[in-house]
Amino acid sequence: MTTLDLKRTTTAQDLNRTAEPERRQPLEDFFSASDARNDRWRSLNVAAHDWAANGAGRLAAQKRVLELFTEIMPIEDYWAFPGPVLMRTLKDSIDAQDANVVARLTQKIGRALLSGSYRNDAAAWDPLAEQEASAGNALPPDAQGELDHKPYFEVLIVTPSEPSQWEKGRKAIQQLRRADDPFIYQIVQVGSFEDAALAVVLNVNLQAIVIYDGFSFMSRHSVPLVHEQLAQHATFDAAGMAAEGRGLGLSLANVIKKFRPELDIYLLTDRAVEDLAGSQEASAVRRVFYDVEEALEIHLSIMDGVNDRYTTPYFSNLKQYAQRPVGTFHALPIARGKSVFKSNWIRDMGQFYGTNIFLAESSATSGGLDSLLEPTNNIKVAQEMTARAFGAKRCYFSTNGTSTSNKIVVQGLCAPGDIVIVDRNCHKSHHYGFVLSGAQPYYVEAYPLTKYSMYGAVPLRTLKKTLLDLRAEGKLDRVKLVDLTNCTFDGHMYNPQRLMEECLAIKPNLAFIWDEAWFAFARFSPLHRRRTGMGAAGVLWAKYHDPAYRQVYEAHKAELAKVNPKDPKAADKLLDMHLLPDPEKVRIRVYQTNSTHKSMSAFRQGSMMLVWDEDFHQVEGTFQEAFLAHTSTSPNLQLIASLDVARRQMELEGYELTMRMTGVAIDLRDRINKHPLISKYFRVATPEDMIPAEFRKSGIKDYGPPHSTWRDMVKAWDEDEIALDPTRLTLLCGDAGFDGTQFKGMLAERFDIQINKTSRNSILVQININNTRADAAHLIKALSSLSREIDERLGGGGKEDKEAFAARVRSLTVDVPDLPNFSEFHAAFRDSAKSKTNEGHMRAAFFRAYDEKACEYVKLNDKAIDDRLKNGPPLISANFVIPYPPGFPIMVPGQVIKADTITFMRKLDVKEIHGYQAARGLKLLKPDALGAAKVNPER
Ligand SMILES: Cc1ncc(COP(=O)(O)O)c(C=O)c1O
Repeated sequence: MTTLDLKRTTTAQDLNRTAEPERRQPLEDFFSASDARNDRWRSLNVAAHDWAANGAGRLAAQKRVLELFTEIMPIEDYWAFPGPVLMRTLKDSIDAQDANVVARLTQKIGRALLSGSYRNDAAAWDPLAEQEASAGNALPPDAQGELDHKPYFEVLIVTPSEPSQWEKGRKAIQQLRRADDPFIYQIVQVGSFEDAALAVVLNVNLQAIVIYDGFSFMSRHSVPLVHEQLAQHATFDAAGMAAEGRGLGLSLANVIKKFRPELDIYLLTDRAVEDLAGSQEASAVRRVFYDVEEALEIHLSIMDGVNDRYTTPYFSNLKQYAQRPVGTFHALPIARGKSVFKSNWIRDMGQFYGTNIFLAESSATSGGLDSLLEPTNNIKVAQEMTARAFGAKRCYFSTNGTSTSNKIVVQGLCAPGDIVIVDRNCHKSHHYGFVLSGAQPYYVEAYPLTKYSMYGAVPLRTLKKTLLDLRAEGKLDRVKLVDLTNCTFDGHMYNPQRLMEECLAIKPNLAFIWDEAWFAFARFSPLHRRRTGMGAAGVLWAKYHDPAYRQVYEAHKAELAKVNPKDPKAADKLLDMHLLPDPEKVRIRVYQTNSTHKSMSAFRQGSMMLVWDEDFHQVEGTFQEAFLAHTSTSPNLQLIASLDVARRQMELEGYELTMRMTGVAIDLRDRINKHPLISKYFRVATPEDMIPAEFRKSGIKDYGPPHSTWRDMVKAWDEDEIALDPTRLTLLCGDAGFDGTQFKGMLAERFDIQINKTSRNSILVQININNTRADAAHLIKALSSLSREIDERLGGGGKEDKEAFAARVRSLTVDVPDLPNFSEFHAAFRDSAKSKTNEGHMRAAFFRAYDEKACEYVKLNDKAIDDRLKNGPPLISANFVIPYPPGFPIMVPGQVIKADTITFMRKLDVKEIHGYQAARGLKLLKPDALGAAKVNPER
């Protein structure tokens, strides 16, 4: 038996050591299995060439070839390429000590893996064939002329048959290929539950699994890592089932479905297929076949399954539309490109964008183009497919960014007077949504990270307390929504399952909006998914519908009964308990908005709203109204098409892309923080830096050795209240003497590196599905150049320079302004000034400011501000003041402005502050002109 260790630099001696092998395993190898694999083949290739070169190091190189090959061999069982023929030939050449053949074969295999040429080139699989040099997928398709390109994937076959029979089976399936198949696939065969699970984790090419029941549980290899994980998650007695002759097929299907829900699973069994097919446990399986079923039927089902995800109803139709000779008489001269291509003056526009974009422009909704405002055809189907991909019940496309999606959801669910519990740091679109709908925001605070001038997430305890306070004041029936950003700009991920569960225990029909603007990709990562709103909705629904939950709830009720409502500490006791909702009353009502364009391959402004609401029928009408209120009657067709295609991509390669980006991010964090030169001036903030210990019960400090294994990371993400998304890197630059804005500018101008958000002493580096290790290397190079320059400057400068540098660093890292909390709404905008709860009539305040006579302006540095802060009358904000980035309001209409907000604003170092004109000063509502506002318009 060989030990399967995914470590890049494992030696042959390590292979037989089973004591905690994964402790030493670089974390990113787990995420970037294909990158790690390519690396190993590259090392093998180098060693093989050293061996063939016949130089002084020949013997050492030969030994190294042996070691590397022994390491590589078991892992290759889980991929179709290079496959048994090439691997056997390579092994035979190594055994025959034919260094030249070994060098040629390792080079051939390594190149094919790197370029992906094995997907379409039969010569790559043939040990004797010479392969043409291939550009792989590096060039855009129009440069490659890929007209006859067929997408490639792999199918995993889990079989009880002897490995000696596998070759025959593979050949039989290859014979089923037909010229008109839309895709090409190759086969990977394994013989056990553990091997199947491992293949599903490692092999990103898999799209379908065919399970022949009757296979064994244990792997041919020793895989302690998988063994342990499966033991944790699989709630069945594998050995017992095997002994009783019951198949493990369905259990395997369910384990796979949890990890990669997008995969199609087919089960072949000799059990009563008709009974099985209708059972709940078979819901993970796409189709159940009787054991001796036609092989062709299985082949066609595989094609059909992949095609279900590949199909892009809107995009495909738009492509067809573009080919038709349409004459247009509607209001869109640019359609068909005639106004462009014939122009004397704007022809370069046509050259730049190419013809298709003009051919695919139309203002019609006929010709199968469907209408976003009332979809009945392919937009409807595209939305349904997207809902499926995200595990939602419904999906609405939106073509004006999540800025619009948020307003639609808020306005769709809330009427004037309703209360929304909302993170004050939510994006401005939520706050405008409250103005539009008349909902009263109840602002709750995220924990501040003052050191880095940013906020974290809202503690669950704060949310529970808010709900309990509202309950105590008899206002719970007015609370419609909890509205939170997940993950935050800076990567704080909530635990939506736990959070919704405890809130639902207080108000069982509460709805939630998860603004996952940055987090669309998360659905497709088996690790991030657990932290998404939609992921949590499905899990909670299943949990509350499980009969076992009723017993758990009964026990919980008994515990609750012990809390005496008259006890002054009763509220604290409830805050300390893990509250559970009543299964008789609980309703799952979850909404998610995402800026698809921010993390998937959609054009700018492509966004979507996902709905998992058991009571949607009650709000469908108002939701539809809000949708119509905000949706353009001329939505951009290319945007809608890109949403359709972005979904296709993630359903087919989202697993690979999200795992790789996570790997790249974790590696980059590690390299920056461990780099001897860079880490003198720059550092990526760790989970320990970004999440206070009380929300990080697992104690996890950082990702990767020596701090944690991937198992620690999964555990922390399962259990902790807040976790940090590793793909969002807060790169601290204060120790280099740069503020965020300055550093951002420097990276852009000198190194062509663009980043998104800055804070006083940091920038945010985002790793997305498009980022590669080369991008990471580019950033590392820039950081090392800058670090070297600082080193040289400080080394060459005198005492004064050093002191000036130290003072600058101090001002950026120590003398940081406190972050202001939301203060309160002025009494004129509250139902009762005595109320403990802080919701306010923000809309009344907003429209009060339309009366210029009711407003005044005071310059930010005017002494009058300080005087009024001390002696009154209060300063009442007339509008939103929103520094951008990050884009959340530090003042809202009707808010009483306190000293901390003024101090913060005076120290603010971003250029764009929406709602504030320095030349005029702060726009305030005159306290003596609020008379009319006091007559609360809504109530
Ligand atoms: C949390 C959050 N929500 C919503 C938005 C708005 O999204 P969009 O740019 O798609 O309109 C942003 C934009 O940055 C955001 O950060």
